[in-house]
Amino acid sequence: MGDPTGLIPAPLSVRTESGHFPLTSETLLHAGPGAERAARRLRAELSPPTGLPLPPAPEPVDGALCLLLDPGLHQRLGDEGYLLDVTPERATLTAAAEPGLHWAVQTLRQLLGPAAYRRAPLPGGPDWSLPALHLADAPRFRWRGLMLDVARHFMPKDGVLRVLDLLAAHKLNVLHFHLTDDQGWRIEVRGKPRLTEVASWRERSRLGHRASPLWDPRPHGGYYTQEDLREIVAYAAERQITVVPEIDIPGHSQAAIAAYPELGNRDAGVDTAELGVWTDWGISTHLLAPSEEVLRFYEEVLEEVLEIFPSPYVHLGGDECPKDEWRASPSAQARLAELGLPDENALQAWMLRHFGEWLAARGRRLVGWDEILQGEGEDADPRTAAGAVVPDARPSSASPLRADGPSGEAYAPVLADLPDGAAVSSWRGYAGGVAAARAGHDVVICPEQQVYFDHRQDAGEDEPVPIGYVRTLADVYRFEPVPPELAGTELAARVLGTQATMWAECTETPQRVDYQLFPRLVALAEVAWSQLPAPGQRDVEGFERRMERAHYPRLDAMGVNYRPPSGPYPWQRRPGVLGRPIDGAPPIV
Ligand code: ACM
Repeated sequence: MGDPTGLIPAPLSVRTESGHFPLTSETLLHAGPGAERAARRLRAELSPPTGLPLPPAPEPVDGALCLLLDPGLHQRLGDEGYLLDVTPERATLTAAAEPGLHWAVQTLRQLLGPAAYRRAPLPGGPDWSLPALHLADAPRFRWRGLMLDVARHFMPKDGVLRVLDLLAAHKLNVLHFHLTDDQGWRIEVRGKPRLTEVASWRERSRLGHRASPLWDPRPHGGYYTQEDLREIVAYAAERQITVVPEIDIPGHSQAAIAAYPELGNRDAGVDTAELGVWTDWGISTHLLAPSEEVLRFYEEVLEEVLEIFPSPYVHLGGDECPKDEWRASPSAQARLAELGLPDENALQAWMLRHFGEWLAARGRRLVGWDEILQGEGEDADPRTAAGAVVPDARPSSASPLRADGPSGEAYAPVLADLPDGAAVSSWRGYAGGVAAARAGHDVVICPEQQVYFDHRQDAGEDEPVPIGYVRTLADVYRFEPVPPELAGTELAARVLGTQATMWAECTETPQRVDYQLFPRLVALAEVAWSQLPAPGQRDVEGFERRMERAHYPRLDAMGVNYRPPSGPYPWQRRPGVLGRPIDGAPPIV
């Protein structure tokens, strides 16, 4: 990590040499066979800030930036790895496959300095040059993501495209797109127009977290047309990012029920025709009915989802689903009896299995939050499992991690019979991930206690709408995605990677989302990409120094509204808007 280049995430290895490769109006761009798209991306990213035309060179000549594919590198560096060789004569980016070349371009951009993140050249701007070096790089994990909740507060399309730029700049490659929830439905479904006419907006919103007495009386809403979503998907793909859509079932569905009351449990003592799109935060008690009609409705929704999103993974939520309505509904009970299922958790597992198989038949893979592991029986919550510990996480001084974390041993639900290929997002600690891996499923490790970035990032009074645990930049840097129970075993390969989670109840604008994400997303990117030592041995101070010296200036040039290390600017505060206190805070929604 003694890298003088200030690259983040830190590369596998780098050796700097003396001298520089200058980029001037004479500099050429050579794309070897198969490297044309990466070369177009390089030009699209580097010409605007530098003003350099980078005309094509048919051969890899001196004075050129050269992008080359060499499949022989695959064994050593995989599809996403790359080599970068800069001499005073030329700069050569080599990878086994296209993704690696794209990440090499991102490295090149960092090496050019913060001004390379602007969108137009500054008058009298810097002379552009790359330091001579030999660099080899490859990611530790193949799933390096961000879950973005655009249901609680809608993020207009431009904001999402900007988030994709920010992910790419940090070599993150998955946008888990949380498109539906109790408070809003954000995806146009042509066969179900009321999902956008009715479910895409709510009358007002609570301002702050649940305890806040304040309301924002303005109607809130918005949705992405199918063209918008195809644009988002294509924009992401150009940046090697997969957009994994999430349609949450059978809970977190009040907005859909408000639009189509027949989706709800109409015989459970609630008139579902009276339900509006929820204006408050929390877990709605209204869930989808386990009827054939609902299955068909969601199959039709998913048919459109699959047409828009080529992602091999489709997320169907499955989290936080109180079953009171199913217990009260004679038709849900009749369904349960007809299927010969023991209880309501089994009914949920049956529903998820139905859609998991439906997806598998179409060549896609189900992903769900770790509740999808439960096959039947009492709710098994890994956070309250006996003997739970938080592996290797160092407590933040202001908010010690409580012993309500994961335990692969104590968390032992009757496992659901998930379809082959189904994957699990382990959010209630690590235990779901451990259980899923042992059951033969891939996992994304994203524990609330470590990488939920709606949680506050400092204990200070000034934190805007402070929620839950304090999770500082240093805490995130010490986060280890592989649970200790799996480390060093062949099941560690079941860990696809990790992602940050950004719930948006209290982040009503893209600037607020920026504040919660940054700088912590930078630490997450390094955790997901770089080969870091065990958490206790990580060089947190070195990382913070690289942030100061090299990376905050890049974020500044990109216009990111990050939290400064010294605390929020006055205009980043939200005095008087209640969050959720840290003392004794239970795990939050
Ligand atoms: C979740 O935080 N409800 C997945």
